[in-house]
Amino acid sequence: KLGSTLSITVVGASGDLAKKKIFPALFALYYEDCLPEDFTVFGYARTKLTDEELRNVIKHFINHLLAGKLSNRLFYLSIPPNIFVDVAKFIVEKPFGRDSESSGGLTRSLKQYLREDQIFRIDHYLGRELVENLSVLRFSNLVFEPLWSRNYIRNVQFIFSEDFGTEGRGGYFDNYGIIRDIMQNHLLQILALFAMETPVSLDAEDIRNEKVKVLRSMQPLLLENVIVGQYKGHNKGSKSYPAYTDDPTVPKGSLTPTFAAAALFINNARWDGVPFLMKAVKALHTKRAEIRVQFRHVPGNLYKRNFGTDLDKATNELVLRLQPGEAIYVKINNKVPGLGMRLDRSDLNLLYRSRYPTEIPDAYERLVLDAIEGERRLFIRSDELDAAWALFTPLLKELEEKKIVPELYPYGSRGPVGAHYLAAKHNVRWGDLSGEDS
Ligand code: BG6
Repeated sequence: KLGSTLSITVVGASGDLAKKKIFPALFALYYEDCLPEDFTVFGYARTKLTDEELRNVIKHFINHLLAGKLSNRLFYLSIPPNIFVDVAKFIVEKPFGRDSESSGGLTRSLKQYLREDQIFRIDHYLGRELVENLSVLRFSNLVFEPLWSRNYIRNVQFIFSEDFGTEGRGGYFDNYGIIRDIMQNHLLQILALFAMETPVSLDAEDIRNEKVKVLRSMQPLLLENVIVGQYKGHNKGSKSYPAYTDDPTVPKGSLTPTFAAAALFINNARWDGVPFLMKAVKALHTKRAEIRVQFRHVPGNLYKRNFGTDLDKATNELVLRLQPGEAIYVKINNKVPGLGMRLDRSDLNLLYRSRYPTEIPDAYERLVLDAIEGERRLFIRSDELDAAWALFTPLLKELEEKKIVPELYPYGSRGPVGAHYLAAKHNVRWGDLSGEDS
Protein backbone atom coordinates (compact mmCIF):
# COMPACT_ATOMS: atom_id res chain seq x y z
CA LYS A 1 0.00 0.00 0.00
CA LEU A 2 2.79 2.40 0.91
CA GLY A 3 5.67 3.30 -1.34
CA SER A 4 8.92 1.69 -0.42
CA THR A 5 10.51 4.89 0.82
CA LEU A 6 9.10 7.75 2.76
CA SER A 7 10.63 10.96 4.02
CA ILE A 8 8.81 13.02 6.59
CA THR A 9 9.99 16.54 7.21
CA VAL A 10 8.67 18.25 10.29
CA VAL A 11 8.99 22.00 10.00
CA GLY A 12 8.83 23.44 13.51
CA ALA A 13 10.45 20.35 14.97
CA SER A 14 11.32 21.91 18.31
CA GLY A 15 7.82 23.26 18.92
CA ASP A 16 5.22 22.11 21.37
CA LEU A 17 3.01 20.41 18.83
CA ALA A 18 5.85 18.45 17.26
CA LYS A 19 7.10 17.27 20.63
CA LYS A 20 3.78 16.40 22.15
CA LYS A 21 1.84 15.11 19.18
CA ILE A 22 3.65 14.68 15.90
CA PHE A 23 6.74 12.75 16.95
CA PRO A 24 4.77 10.49 19.31
CA ALA A 25 2.25 9.83 16.52
CA LEU A 26 5.04 8.97 14.08
CA PHE A 27 6.57 6.73 16.66
CA ALA A 28 3.28 4.95 17.33
CA LEU A 29 2.79 4.41 13.59
CA TYR A 30 6.27 2.99 13.32
CA TYR A 31 5.70 0.78 16.33
CA GLU A 32 2.47 -0.56 14.82
CA ASP A 33 4.24 -1.30 11.57
CA CYS A 34 2.30 1.26 9.57
CA LEU A 35 5.34 2.91 7.99
CA PRO A 36 7.52 1.56 5.20
CA GLU A 37 10.79 0.04 6.27
CA ASP A 38 12.74 2.75 4.57
CA PHE A 39 11.57 5.95 6.12
CA THR A 40 13.35 9.04 7.31
CA VAL A 41 12.29 11.92 9.48
CA PHE A 42 13.85 15.35 9.06
CA GLY A 43 13.36 18.16 11.48
CA TYR A 44 13.57 21.86 10.77
CA ALA A 45 13.30 24.49 13.46
CA ARG A 46 14.21 28.06 14.27
CA THR A 47 15.72 26.91 17.54
CA LYS A 48 19.32 25.87 17.12
CA LEU A 49 19.49 22.19 17.98
CA THR A 50 21.91 19.41 17.28
CA ASP A 51 20.54 16.05 16.18
CA GLU A 52 21.42 14.70 19.58
CA GLU A 53 19.58 17.48 21.41
CA LEU A 54 16.48 17.00 19.32
CA ARG A 55 16.59 13.25 19.88
CA ASN A 56 16.74 13.87 23.60
CA VAL A 57 13.75 16.16 23.51
CA ILE A 58 11.74 13.68 21.50
CA LYS A 59 12.82 10.74 23.63
CA HIS A 60 11.30 12.38 26.63
CA PHE A 61 7.89 12.45 24.96
CA ILE A 62 7.90 8.97 23.48
CA ASN A 63 9.42 7.04 26.34
CA HIS A 64 6.00 6.40 27.85
CA LEU A 65 4.98 4.61 24.64
CA LEU A 66 7.81 2.15 24.94
CA ALA A 67 6.33 0.12 27.76
CA GLY A 68 9.59 -0.28 29.50
CA LYS A 69 11.61 -1.35 26.45
CA LEU A 70 14.85 0.33 25.58
CA SER A 71 14.35 2.85 22.85
CA ASN A 72 15.79 2.06 19.45
CA ARG A 73 17.32 4.84 17.52
CA LEU A 74 14.27 5.87 15.64
CA PHE A 75 14.50 9.37 14.33
CA TYR A 76 17.37 9.99 12.01
CA LEU A 77 17.96 13.66 11.53
CA SER A 78 20.52 14.65 8.96
CA ILE A 79 21.01 17.39 6.47
CA PRO A 80 18.21 17.77 3.94
CA PRO A 81 18.60 15.34 1.09
CA ASN A 82 19.23 16.64 -2.38
CA ILE A 83 17.44 13.70 -3.84
CA PHE A 84 14.61 14.27 -6.21
CA VAL A 85 11.20 14.01 -4.58
CA ASP A 86 8.58 12.61 -6.93
CA VAL A 87 5.59 12.93 -4.72
CA ALA A 88 5.34 15.49 -2.00
CA LYS A 89 2.42 16.05 0.29
CA PHE A 90 2.20 18.89 2.75
CA ILE A 91 0.39 18.70 6.02
CA VAL A 92 -0.35 22.17 7.30
CA GLU A 93 -1.42 23.07 10.80
CA LYS A 94 -3.72 25.84 11.79
CA PRO A 95 -3.97 28.79 12.22
CA PHE A 96 -4.92 29.03 8.56
CA GLY A 97 -4.95 32.82 8.71
CA ARG A 98 -6.89 35.12 11.01
CA ASP A 99 -9.79 35.94 8.71
CA SER A 100 -11.10 35.42 5.18
CA GLU A 101 -8.54 37.71 3.66
CA SER A 102 -5.38 36.35 5.28
CA SER A 103 -6.58 32.79 4.85
CA GLY A 104 -7.23 33.44 1.15
CA GLY A 105 -3.71 34.87 0.88
CA LEU A 106 -2.22 31.77 2.50
CA THR A 107 -4.12 29.46 0.19
CA ARG A 108 -2.99 31.45 -2.85
CA SER A 109 0.64 31.22 -1.74
CA LEU A 110 0.40 27.49 -1.13
CA LYS A 111 -1.20 27.01 -4.52
CA GLN A 112 1.69 28.66 -6.28
CA TYR A 113 3.68 25.55 -5.48
CA LEU A 114 1.15 22.87 -4.64
CA ARG A 115 -1.98 21.40 -6.08
CA GLU A 116 -5.07 21.09 -3.92
CA ASP A 117 -4.53 17.34 -3.67
CA GLN A 118 -1.08 17.88 -2.16
CA ILE A 119 -2.32 20.09 0.66
CA PHE A 120 -3.52 18.37 3.82
CA ARG A 121 -4.96 20.96 6.20
CA ILE A 122 -5.10 19.22 9.51
CA ASP A 123 -7.83 19.70 12.08
CA HIS A 124 -6.97 17.13 14.66
CA TYR A 125 -10.53 16.95 15.93
CA LEU A 126 -11.45 15.21 12.69
CA GLY A 127 -9.05 12.43 13.65
CA ARG A 128 -10.81 11.72 16.92
CA GLU A 129 -12.36 8.31 17.21
CA LEU A 130 -15.84 9.58 18.01
CA VAL A 131 -15.83 12.14 15.27
CA GLU A 132 -15.00 9.40 12.75
CA ASN A 133 -17.77 7.37 14.30
CA LEU A 134 -20.36 10.10 13.93
CA SER A 135 -21.11 9.15 10.33
CA VAL A 136 -21.12 5.44 11.15
CA LEU A 137 -23.61 6.02 13.92
CA ARG A 138 -25.84 8.10 11.73
CA PHE A 139 -25.69 6.36 8.40
CA SER A 140 -25.55 2.74 9.44
CA ASN A 141 -28.20 2.63 12.16
CA LEU A 142 -31.85 2.98 11.38
CA VAL A 143 -32.60 4.31 14.84
CA PHE A 144 -30.71 7.58 14.33
CA GLU A 145 -30.86 8.92 10.78
CA PRO A 146 -34.68 9.17 10.54
CA LEU A 147 -34.62 11.37 13.67
CA TRP A 148 -31.81 13.58 12.36
CA SER A 149 -33.75 16.72 11.50
CA ARG A 150 -35.80 19.63 12.78
CA ASN A 151 -38.76 17.25 13.10
CA TYR A 152 -37.27 15.51 16.11
CA ILE A 153 -34.19 17.40 17.16
CA ARG A 154 -34.73 20.48 19.25
CA ASN A 155 -31.16 21.69 19.46
CA VAL A 156 -27.59 20.48 19.14
CA GLN A 157 -24.70 21.52 21.36
CA PHE A 158 -20.98 21.35 20.67
CA ILE A 159 -19.03 21.82 23.85
CA PHE A 160 -15.29 22.13 24.37
CA SER A 161 -13.75 23.00 27.70
CA GLU A 162 -10.35 22.77 29.29
CA ASP A 163 -9.58 22.93 32.98
CA PHE A 164 -6.40 24.91 32.40
CA GLY A 165 -5.68 28.33 30.93
CA THR A 166 -3.38 29.45 28.17
CA GLU A 167 -0.34 28.94 30.37
CA GLY A 168 2.76 29.35 28.24
CA ARG A 169 0.83 29.86 25.02
CA GLY A 170 -0.40 33.39 25.67
CA GLY A 171 1.82 34.79 22.92
CA TYR A 172 0.08 32.72 20.25
CA PHE A 173 -3.32 32.78 21.83
CA ASP A 174 -3.68 36.51 22.30
CA ASN A 175 -3.47 37.10 18.60
CA TYR A 176 -6.23 34.56 17.90
CA GLY A 177 -8.61 34.04 20.81
CA ILE A 178 -10.90 31.12 21.49
CA ILE A 179 -13.21 31.70 18.51
CA ARG A 180 -10.36 31.24 16.02
CA ASP A 181 -8.57 28.67 18.16
CA ILE A 182 -11.47 26.26 18.66
CA MET A 183 -14.80 27.34 17.17
CA GLN A 184 -13.97 28.28 13.61
CA ASN A 185 -12.19 24.96 13.12
CA HIS A 186 -12.72 22.12 15.60
CA LEU A 187 -16.34 22.79 16.54
CA LEU A 188 -17.45 23.99 13.13
CA GLN A 189 -15.93 20.95 11.44
CA ILE A 190 -17.85 18.66 13.77
CA LEU A 191 -21.00 20.64 13.16
CA ALA A 192 -20.60 20.25 9.39
CA LEU A 193 -20.14 16.48 9.71
CA PHE A 194 -23.07 16.28 12.08
CA ALA A 195 -25.45 18.23 9.89
CA MET A 196 -24.44 17.21 6.37
CA GLU A 197 -26.75 15.34 4.00
CA THR A 198 -25.92 11.75 3.12
CA PRO A 199 -22.86 11.87 0.88
CA VAL A 200 -22.91 10.04 -2.46
CA SER A 201 -20.12 7.79 -1.19
CA LEU A 202 -17.41 7.70 1.43
CA ASP A 203 -15.02 9.26 -1.03
CA ALA A 204 -13.21 12.33 0.28
CA GLU A 205 -14.64 14.65 -2.36
CA ASP A 206 -18.19 13.43 -1.80
CA ILE A 207 -17.96 13.96 1.95
CA ARG A 208 -16.34 17.35 1.64
CA ASN A 209 -18.93 18.43 -0.94
CA GLU A 210 -21.64 17.80 1.64
CA LYS A 211 -19.73 19.53 4.44
CA VAL A 212 -19.16 22.63 2.39
CA LYS A 213 -22.87 22.81 1.56
CA VAL A 214 -23.69 22.93 5.26
CA LEU A 215 -21.14 25.68 5.86
CA ARG A 216 -22.45 27.71 2.96
CA SER A 217 -26.04 27.32 4.21
CA MET A 218 -25.32 28.86 7.56
CA GLN A 219 -27.06 32.05 8.59
CA PRO A 220 -24.70 34.97 9.19
CA LEU A 221 -23.53 34.86 12.79
CA LEU A 222 -24.77 37.93 14.63
CA LEU A 223 -23.06 39.57 17.56
CA GLU A 224 -26.30 39.28 19.54
CA ASN A 225 -25.96 35.50 19.28
CA VAL A 226 -22.49 35.42 20.76
CA ILE A 227 -21.14 35.77 24.30
CA VAL A 228 -17.46 36.25 24.98
CA GLY A 229 -15.63 35.88 28.26
CA GLN A 230 -12.16 35.92 29.75
CA TYR A 231 -10.92 34.18 32.87
CA LYS A 232 -9.84 36.15 35.87
CA GLY A 233 -7.64 35.25 38.82
CA HIS A 234 -9.12 33.27 41.61
CA ASN A 235 -8.13 31.90 45.02
CA LYS A 236 -9.39 28.54 46.11
CA GLY A 237 -8.27 27.51 49.57
CA SER A 238 -4.52 27.95 49.63
CA LYS A 239 -4.23 27.73 45.83
CA SER A 240 -4.36 30.76 43.63
CA TYR A 241 -5.14 30.67 39.92
CA PRO A 242 -3.89 33.33 37.50
CA ALA A 243 -5.98 35.61 35.33
CA TYR A 244 -5.49 35.39 31.57
CA THR A 245 -3.87 38.82 31.62
CA ASP A 246 -1.41 37.71 34.32
CA ASP A 247 0.46 35.82 31.61
CA PRO A 248 3.56 37.89 30.87
CA THR A 249 3.17 37.24 27.13
CA VAL A 250 -0.36 38.70 27.13
CA PRO A 251 -0.67 42.49 26.82
CA LYS A 252 -2.26 44.19 29.82
CA GLY A 253 -5.89 45.01 29.21
CA SER A 254 -6.20 42.41 26.43
CA LEU A 255 -9.80 41.85 25.32
CA THR A 256 -9.05 38.48 23.74
CA PRO A 257 -11.77 35.99 24.64
CA THR A 258 -10.88 32.74 26.38
CA PHE A 259 -14.57 31.82 26.42
CA ALA A 260 -17.16 32.04 23.69
CA ALA A 261 -20.65 30.72 23.24
CA ALA A 262 -22.61 31.11 20.04
CA ALA A 263 -25.99 30.17 18.59
CA LEU A 264 -25.84 29.25 14.92
CA PHE A 265 -28.50 28.32 12.40
CA ILE A 266 -28.50 26.37 9.17
CA ASN A 267 -30.85 27.63 6.50
CA ASN A 268 -31.89 24.43 4.87
CA ALA A 269 -34.93 22.18 4.87
CA ARG A 270 -33.46 19.73 7.36
CA TRP A 271 -32.36 22.19 10.00
CA ASP A 272 -34.52 25.28 9.59
CA GLY A 273 -34.94 26.94 13.02
CA VAL A 274 -32.85 24.43 15.01
CA PRO A 275 -30.31 26.20 17.25
CA PHE A 276 -26.79 24.79 17.01
CA LEU A 277 -25.06 25.99 20.12
CA MET A 278 -21.32 26.08 20.54
CA LYS A 279 -19.32 26.69 23.65
CA ALA A 280 -15.53 26.80 23.88
CA VAL A 281 -13.71 27.61 27.09
CA LYS A 282 -10.28 27.73 28.64
CA ALA A 283 -9.83 27.48 32.42
CA LEU A 284 -13.21 26.01 33.27
CA HIS A 285 -13.92 23.63 36.16
CA THR A 286 -13.76 20.63 33.87
CA LYS A 287 -12.12 19.31 30.70
CA ARG A 288 -14.42 17.83 28.11
CA ALA A 289 -15.41 17.76 24.49
CA GLU A 290 -18.83 16.52 23.51
CA ILE A 291 -21.75 16.72 21.14
CA ARG A 292 -25.18 16.81 22.75
CA VAL A 293 -28.38 16.33 20.82
CA GLN A 294 -31.55 17.32 22.64
CA PHE A 295 -34.73 15.88 21.22
CA ARG A 296 -38.23 17.31 21.24
CA HIS A 297 -40.96 16.43 23.74
CA VAL A 298 -42.96 13.29 23.14
CA PRO A 299 -46.25 14.60 21.74
CA GLY A 300 -49.16 13.75 24.02
CA ASN A 301 -46.89 11.95 26.46
CA LEU A 302 -49.05 9.52 28.45
CA TYR A 303 -46.67 9.75 31.37
CA LYS A 304 -46.67 13.49 31.52
CA ARG A 305 -47.79 13.69 35.11
CA ASN A 306 -44.86 11.54 36.22
CA PHE A 307 -42.51 14.34 35.26
CA GLY A 308 -44.02 17.13 37.32
CA THR A 309 -44.12 20.52 35.70
CA ASP A 310 -40.76 20.41 33.99
CA LEU A 311 -41.30 18.46 30.80
CA ASP A 312 -37.84 19.43 29.59
CA LYS A 313 -36.50 16.96 32.10
CA ALA A 314 -38.22 14.20 30.14
CA THR A 315 -36.70 14.84 26.74
CA ASN A 316 -34.24 12.38 25.28
CA GLU A 317 -30.68 13.44 24.86
CA LEU A 318 -27.96 11.74 22.83
CA VAL A 319 -24.44 12.48 23.98
CA LEU A 320 -21.23 11.72 22.12
CA ARG A 321 -18.39 12.28 24.51
CA LEU A 322 -15.19 12.80 22.55
CA GLN A 323 -13.11 13.12 25.71
CA PRO A 324 -12.31 12.29 28.44
CA GLY A 325 -13.51 8.68 28.44
CA GLU A 326 -15.06 8.22 25.00
CA ALA A 327 -18.72 7.29 25.28
CA ILE A 328 -22.03 7.42 23.48
CA TYR A 329 -25.13 7.48 25.62
CA VAL A 330 -28.80 8.25 25.31
CA LYS A 331 -30.82 9.59 28.18
CA ILE A 332 -34.12 7.82 28.32
CA ASN A 333 -37.10 7.72 30.65
CA ASN A 334 -37.42 4.42 32.38
CA LYS A 335 -39.68 2.76 34.89
CA VAL A 336 -38.06 2.27 38.27
CA PRO A 337 -38.50 -1.44 38.95
CA GLY A 338 -41.09 -2.25 41.56
CA LEU A 339 -44.76 -1.92 42.27
CA GLY A 340 -46.27 1.38 41.35
CA MET A 341 -45.25 3.62 38.50
CA ARG A 342 -42.25 5.72 39.20
CA LEU A 343 -40.09 6.88 36.31
CA ASP A 344 -36.51 8.03 36.29
CA ARG A 345 -33.84 9.09 33.84
CA SER A 346 -31.43 6.38 32.83
CA ASP A 347 -28.69 6.04 30.27
CA LEU A 348 -28.28 3.57 27.47
CA ASN A 349 -24.55 3.74 27.71
CA LEU A 350 -21.78 2.69 25.36
CA LEU A 351 -18.67 3.36 27.36
CA TYR A 352 -15.69 2.67 25.12
CA ARG A 353 -13.39 1.67 27.91
CA SER A 354 -15.70 -1.21 28.85
CA ARG A 355 -16.72 -2.26 25.37
CA TYR A 356 -13.38 -1.79 23.59
CA PRO A 357 -10.59 -2.18 26.11
CA THR A 358 -7.89 -1.52 23.51
CA GLU A 359 -6.12 1.78 23.38
CA ILE A 360 -7.70 4.37 21.08
CA PRO A 361 -5.16 5.86 18.66
CA ASP A 362 -4.33 9.50 19.03
CA ALA A 363 -5.97 11.77 16.46
CA TYR A 364 -2.58 12.72 14.98
CA GLU A 365 -1.70 9.11 14.43
CA ARG A 366 -4.76 8.53 12.29
CA LEU A 367 -4.32 11.76 10.38
CA VAL A 368 -0.61 11.38 9.67
CA LEU A 369 -1.25 7.86 8.40
CA ASP A 370 -4.11 9.10 6.21
CA ALA A 371 -1.90 11.81 4.77
CA ILE A 372 0.87 9.31 4.03
CA GLU A 373 -1.65 7.14 2.24
CA GLY A 374 -3.14 10.11 0.38
CA GLU A 375 -6.55 9.78 2.04
CA ARG A 376 -8.05 13.26 2.19
CA ARG A 377 -11.44 12.59 3.78
CA LEU A 378 -10.44 14.02 7.16
CA PHE A 379 -8.59 17.08 5.85
CA ILE A 380 -10.03 20.47 5.06
CA ARG A 381 -10.42 21.52 1.45
CA SER A 382 -9.84 25.15 0.42
CA ASP A 383 -13.50 25.87 -0.24
CA GLU A 384 -14.46 24.48 3.18
CA LEU A 385 -11.93 26.74 4.79
CA ASP A 386 -13.21 29.75 2.85
CA ALA A 387 -16.77 29.00 3.94
CA ALA A 388 -15.69 28.62 7.56
CA TRP A 389 -13.95 31.98 7.51
CA ALA A 390 -16.86 33.61 5.69
CA LEU A 391 -19.05 32.66 8.64
CA PHE A 392 -16.75 33.94 11.38
CA THR A 393 -14.90 36.87 9.81
CA PRO A 394 -17.69 39.50 10.06
CA LEU A 395 -18.29 38.58 13.70
CA LEU A 396 -14.59 38.68 14.58
CA LYS A 397 -14.23 42.07 12.90
CA GLU A 398 -17.22 43.44 14.79
CA LEU A 399 -15.97 42.13 18.14
CA GLU A 400 -12.61 43.79 17.51
CA GLU A 401 -13.89 47.05 16.05
CA LYS A 402 -16.45 47.57 18.80
CA LYS A 403 -13.89 46.46 21.40
CA ILE A 404 -16.47 44.21 23.03
CA VAL A 405 -15.41 43.63 26.62
CA PRO A 406 -15.46 39.96 27.59
CA GLU A 407 -17.44 38.92 30.66
CA LEU A 408 -14.98 37.87 33.36
CA TYR A 409 -15.31 34.46 34.96
CA PRO A 410 -13.13 32.98 37.69
CA TYR A 411 -10.51 30.42 36.66
CA GLY A 412 -11.93 26.98 37.40
CA SER A 413 -15.56 28.13 37.52
CA ARG A 414 -18.52 27.16 35.33
CA GLY A 415 -18.00 30.12 33.03
CA PRO A 416 -19.90 33.36 32.38
CA VAL A 417 -23.62 33.48 33.15
CA GLY A 418 -24.11 35.19 29.78
CA ALA A 419 -23.96 31.71 28.24
CA HIS A 420 -27.17 30.77 30.06
CA TYR A 421 -28.99 33.86 28.85
CA LEU A 422 -27.91 33.15 25.30
CA ALA A 423 -29.16 29.58 25.54
CA ALA A 424 -32.41 30.64 27.23
CA LYS A 425 -33.06 33.14 24.46
CA HIS A 426 -33.20 30.19 22.09
CA ASN A 427 -35.15 28.03 24.48
CA VAL A 428 -32.17 25.83 25.25
CA ARG A 429 -30.52 24.57 28.42
CA TRP A 430 -26.90 23.53 28.32
CA GLY A 431 -26.88 19.77 28.77
CA ASP A 432 -23.45 19.67 30.36
CA LEU A 433 -24.66 21.74 33.31
CA SER A 434 -27.70 19.63 34.11
CA GLY A 435 -25.71 17.58 36.63
CA GLU A 436 -27.20 14.35 35.21
CA ASP A 437 -24.23 12.95 33.35
CA SER A 438 -22.98 9.44 33.69
C1 BG6 B 1 -5.66 23.09 19.67
C2 BG6 B 1 -5.79 24.45 20.28
O1 BG6 B 1 -6.02 23.15 18.31
O2 BG6 B 1 -6.49 22.19 20.35
C3 BG6 B 1 -5.48 24.41 21.76
O3 BG6 B 1 -4.91 25.34 19.64
C4 BG6 B 1 -6.28 23.33 22.45
O4 BG6 B 1 -5.73 25.65 22.35
C5 BG6 B 1 -6.17 22.01 21.70
O5 BG6 B 1 -5.76 23.18 23.75
C6 BG6 B 1 -7.10 20.98 22.28
O6 BG6 B 1 -6.87 19.74 21.73
P1 BG6 B 1 -7.04 18.41 22.57
O7 BG6 B 1 -6.74 17.34 21.59
O8 BG6 B 1 -6.09 18.49 23.72
O9 BG6 B 1 -8.47 18.41 23.03
